[in-house]
Amino acid sequence: MNFRTNVKTVAVIGTGTMGCGIAQVFAQAGRKVLMYDAVPGAVERALKTIDKSLSKFVEKGKLTADAAGAAKANLKPAGLSDMKDADLIVEAIFEDVPTKRALYAELAKVVPPDVVFASNTSSISISELAAASGRPEMFIGMHFFNPVPMMQLVEVVVGLKTAEPVVEFTMNLAKELGKTPHRVKDHPGFVSNRVLMPMINEAIGCYSDGVADANTIDEVMKLGMAHPMGPLALADLIGLDVCLNIMEVLHRDLGEDRYRPAPLLRTMVRAGLLGRKSGRGFYDYGK
Ligand code: 3HC
Repeated sequence: MNFRTNVKTVAVIGTGTMGCGIAQVFAQAGRKVLMYDAVPGAVERALKTIDKSLSKFVEKGKLTADAAGAAKANLKPAGLSDMKDADLIVEAIFEDVPTKRALYAELAKVVPPDVVFASNTSSISISELAAASGRPEMFIGMHFFNPVPMMQLVEVVVGLKTAEPVVEFTMNLAKELGKTPHRVKDHPGFVSNRVLMPMINEAIGCYSDGVADANTIDEVMKLGMAHPMGPLALADLIGLDVCLNIMEVLHRDLGEDRYRPAPLLRTMVRAGLLGRKSGRGFYDYGK
């Protein structure tokens, strides 16, 4: 099996919160980044967010103005047909298997067969997506963490058919981005969300049982457990819809009651209280 290991151009497909951060870290690592999103205006929004993030790093002396300029110059809005020029595909679209399947079918028409596909999925089985991609040996999970430019970890998720050299390639690539990769098996929630989401779900349970208010629950975990953010503030950062989706996957695929989503989480999502992105979740973010 031959695949491209010299990645000069990366296609990031899906430029929401995660895709936007992923595009930024590849651009900062000197890769050309083709940015595509099916939602009109999403790429432009992502470019503005990246601009702000880079400016913040410059302001804080973590990046030179030249390096920020070079990173920005590496970013290019693109169409699906431009994916023929990519040496690596990183997919970060929303978590829906039929939509991802349809995307992979489109990509198969244009992306050369020696190009690796990486998915940033937080909850869908890598082996299932790999089967849908038509290139299962060259498919891998590259799971980044929000905010991507700040968080050190990349969880490298190995599907049942992922080839060993592709794992090695992905681990090295993550290091070239300045991240620390850790290899895990394809299993519901991987390690990160199997451990994190039940904690967030329990915090929501505590809140709805009236054990304490949101701020107190968060302070308990910050001051008592040295977490950088409390679980409810973190749920707001991740997005309550994303949290619910992951809990549903854990509940369905592991089949145990302890993974049942907190009823309040479901109600808040139904009400459109999704956290920071909607302006309100457990906290109010104004507009
Ligand atoms: N780019 C540049 N700067 C950024 C930034 C970004 N993307 N995001 C935040 N910053 C800046 C802030 O603007 C702030 O600047 P300021 O000091 O001038 O105000 C600075 O970073 C520090 O931010 P904070 O004051 O909020 O201080 P913290 O030290 O708390 O750092 C944090 C912020 C890194 C988000 C930290 O709170 C943290 O680590 N939180 C936990 C995040 C986490 O757990 N993420 C994983 C979520 S799970 C996930 O993503 C997986 C998925 O599958 C669900």
